[in-house]
Amino acid sequence: MKVKILSIGHAGFLLKTEDVNILIDPWFYPAFFNTWFPYPNNRFMEDVLLNEKIDYLYLSHEHEDHFDKKFLSKFDKNVKIICADFPTPILIDELDELGFKNLICLGHEKTFDINDKIKCKMFLDNSHSEDSALLIDFDGFKFLDINDCQMNLKSIPKVDLMTCQYSNASWFPQCYNYDKETMKTKISELNDILKQKLVDKVKHSNPRYFIPSASPCVFLNPSMFHLVEGDTTFLKWRDDYWPNSVDAFFKETFPNINVVELSVGNNIDIDDGVVENKQTVHRDELDLINLKDYSDARKDEWNVDYESTIDVEKLNNYFKKLISDNLELVLCLTKNKRFIISSNGKNYLIKLNHRIDKLVKEVDDDFYDKTKINYRIKIPSMILEKIINLESDWETALLSMKIELNRKDDVYDSDLFILLRSGHKPTQTKKYVSLSKKMNDVEMIYKNGYKFNRYCPHAGEDLSDVSVIDNCITCPRHHWKWNLDTGECIRGGNISLMKG
Ligand code: FES
Repeated sequence: MKVKILSIGHAGFLLKTEDVNILIDPWFYPAFFNTWFPYPNNRFMEDVLLNEKIDYLYLSHEHEDHFDKKFLSKFDKNVKIICADFPTPILIDELDELGFKNLICLGHEKTFDINDKIKCKMFLDNSHSEDSALLIDFDGFKFLDINDCQMNLKSIPKVDLMTCQYSNASWFPQCYNYDKETMKTKISELNDILKQKLVDKVKHSNPRYFIPSASPCVFLNPSMFHLVEGDTTFLKWRDDYWPNSVDAFFKETFPNINVVELSVGNNIDIDDGVVENKQTVHRDELDLINLKDYSDARKDEWNVDYESTIDVEKLNNYFKKLISDNLELVLCLTKNKRFIISSNGKNYLIKLNHRIDKLVKEVDDDFYDKTKINYRIKIPSMILEKIINLESDWETALLSMKIELNRKDDVYDSDLFILLRSGHKPTQTKKYVSLSKKMNDVEMIYKNGYKFNRYCPHAGEDLSDVSVIDNCITCPRHHWKWNLDTGECIRGGNISLMKG
């Protein structure tokens, strides 16, 4: 079967066969409070897609750089949408609101046959995160879009062509107020972790071809240029779609895998299982690879900030609702936790306690420094207002990189952050509580003469299949590493592993 793969930028592809066209994760308009923009500029592809016959649309998850509501609002509502059957119906509800009615929702490892030659299989992220990967079998040629989905490595199928994210799309460490040297160290550690994640995924899928996808986005507000330039950012601005450093490392690790660099507007043909004819079929008339020009051309899209007045009562009501929606989590894990929110020159002490009415109190600016309170979150008032009005959420706010996080102990507070990041999806916090209970049960496993926790003390990944290398283990999810002789965490975090 002949298949044409056209890159539409970031993690987006159009897969064309003689009779069926499948579109994946199209993204054109700014995401996360108008901060992230696709790089390279891909807006010229929008019309190409709107004039194309699309039969199926696969949306991997609800993050705005994969689920572009503005573009989808212009799209043919009769298209059949393939998406994961996540525990939280947010994606489905949003699609419904946009007017899409033909949804094919697939659970983990569930299949759907487009016809007798093209078959799909869905994979769900195995943590509390809601993300997915899709395997499409084109009459024997297996294409896997794994993107940033964290699957149990053993369930990754062997394929012919795999496309996967190679860069980071998280707000850590960028949102923390680390000094320059610490930030550099954290970024270098993170880059090592990302490489390892890539290696793990590629090793398990063992493809003949690899298409790097979801390159770093770009921030076009000049006040955020430090996130794309300079040496303390992992989103470093580049002229290359797939950086030479990653390319060299990849080729050394996987000498038999062909890397197919497919920047926006490029396509390849697959004929009889072989990739050929790489071509550039669409050109960007604007050619916005210069940061300043790109920023100027999109000024009306990033220049949208305003200040708003935060009302303590509204903030209080928001946290009351958050607690009552996630009571199990609050009772188990975050009860009486305190932290500070600073916004628009004011500071608010937040107490997570389901028994009291006044959860929020205004405090002086030096309150954080004078007390033992660990976390302080600085957030623009416009963003905070949208969160407390339930028009947005903390994860979107963090991904905007407009939040500054301060902490006295340099340890991720999983319990607090699961409440903030997933509290609008209580099914996810319930899943987290059940994973945490498992961790607290301290189920132990034995390997190479060592006895240690079965579930990762960071965020509950099952460690049953990890290998012991040089007396150390590495968690496959976020790649924290422990020395099994001491139990000490030697990379990633500082929570020790229990050992028998
Ligand atoms: S779950 Fe995060 S390092 Fe294990």
